[in-house]
Amino acid sequence: MAAAADEALFELLRIPSISALPEHADDVERARQLVVDRLRRLGFEIELAPGVISAEWMGRPGKPVLGIYGHYDVQPPDPLDLWETPPFEPTVRDGYVYARGAVDNKGQLVANLMAVEGAFAEGGPPVNVRFLIEGEEEIGGRSLPDFVRANAERLPTDYMSLIDGYFVAPGIPSLITALRGLLYVEIEVTGPAVDLHSGMFGGVAPNPFNSLVWMLAGLKDRGGRVLIPGFYDSWRAPTKEEIESWSKLPYGEEARLLATMGARALEGESDFTPIERIWARPTLDVHGIRGGFIGEGQKTVIPSQALAKVSMRLVPDQDPEEILASLRSHLSTLATPGVSFEVRVMSMTRPVLCGVDHPGVAAARRAYAAAFGSEPVLAREGGSVPVSLELQEALGAKMIVSGFGLPDDGMHSPNERFSLDQFHRGIEFTERLMHELAAD
Ligand code: BES
Ligand code: MN
Ligand code: MN
Repeated sequence: MAAAADEALFELLRIPSISALPEHADDVERARQLVVDRLRRLGFEIELAPGVISAEWMGRPGKPVLGIYGHYDVQPPDPLDLWETPPFEPTVRDGYVYARGAVDNKGQLVANLMAVEGAFAEGGPPVNVRFLIEGEEEIGGRSLPDFVRANAERLPTDYMSLIDGYFVAPGIPSLITALRGLLYVEIEVTGPAVDLHSGMFGGVAPNPFNSLVWMLAGLKDRGGRVLIPGFYDSWRAPTKEEIESWSKLPYGEEARLLATMGARALEGESDFTPIERIWARPTLDVHGIRGGFIGEGQKTVIPSQALAKVSMRLVPDQDPEEILASLRSHLSTLATPGVSFEVRVMSMTRPVLCGVDHPGVAAARRAYAAAFGSEPVLAREGGSVPVSLELQEALGAKMIVSGFGLPDDGMHSPNERFSLDQFHRGIEFTERLMHELAAD
């Protein structure tokens, strides 16, 4: 069983289903096909839309419907030279499988699939099961969120298990009470019509790179405070109980964070603890800058264009549309004379608060205790899963947000990995979750 589950995972990991890169569109489709084939063999009724797998098995009338969410797309693997083994050749070392997507999210998705397959081998799951799976999660795609919104009444779901996160420390599972939102933009600045000699025109030419870095520097101060007007206006402070319970978690310990990141010191708002900064404060980061001359050696040129990729992690009750409007007007006060700029929205995801006072979370607690030998703690997620909003609001499902990853699994990093022990226990978790919900 374990060997067959491992092979099912490796098969999916061999497909470079990178949603961000158009040249991998066929691979994303192949990954979807593989998942669809497995569900079809089990007898699921399947509906497909671009980027969407919606599958249901309603063989237990009167029992609750357990929804299971996952995504089969992955982040680009670069920088490639930092991988010890190729990102799409899953390799086992010391009980971990190394591959892009190992933990995020293929390993966790396959754990859920294996639990359901196992249940079919023993007469069928004890609850009704609905899979909602997507291939655009890593690009903030709207296909599944829009599908869920448009078809909500046809997709009744009592509980939604969203397994795309991680334990706060080895042996300590987490149940998630909030996910941050995201506003991801490209800022493109244009100066002269063509690249120019900086000796002939330096001093008068509007340099879009100079302007861009000036604009970026004006978005955040050295202490980590975002300078976009109104940015913090709708910030909702976490409760005293949350702050108090987080302070006991090992996850936010400075030394541990530094070791996991391989960094020398923390940045950010010093009047908040590290864990508050990651889970409950909004942040702003630059992800990449392009333009001008970046080859070896030197070239004295004033570039015509410069571009930066910037995102803001948002928390309750920030509204991405309002933040975007304020960002645009703030940038126009920062732009230097003679340049023009455009802000293009790549994706927009609202922050989500998930209630945890419901029988689904109670069932998940028991399932964790049985499968992993320890009770989960309440935590938040610094990351985002765009569709979680629609799953909760449009579908009206009670959310069970969790994950089997470990903090040093390297989500989005080189040498991403997933512990095979976590994988096998994860399968058991979902088996037990189904039984706990059936017995309620
Ligand atoms: N699995 C992550 C979300 C996540 C991150 C959960 C950290 C728990 C902890 C997910 O695949 C992801 O990376 N989401 C993107 C969404 C974005 C592209 C809209 C993210 O958070 O950057
Ligand atoms: Mn994920
Ligand atoms: Mn991800």
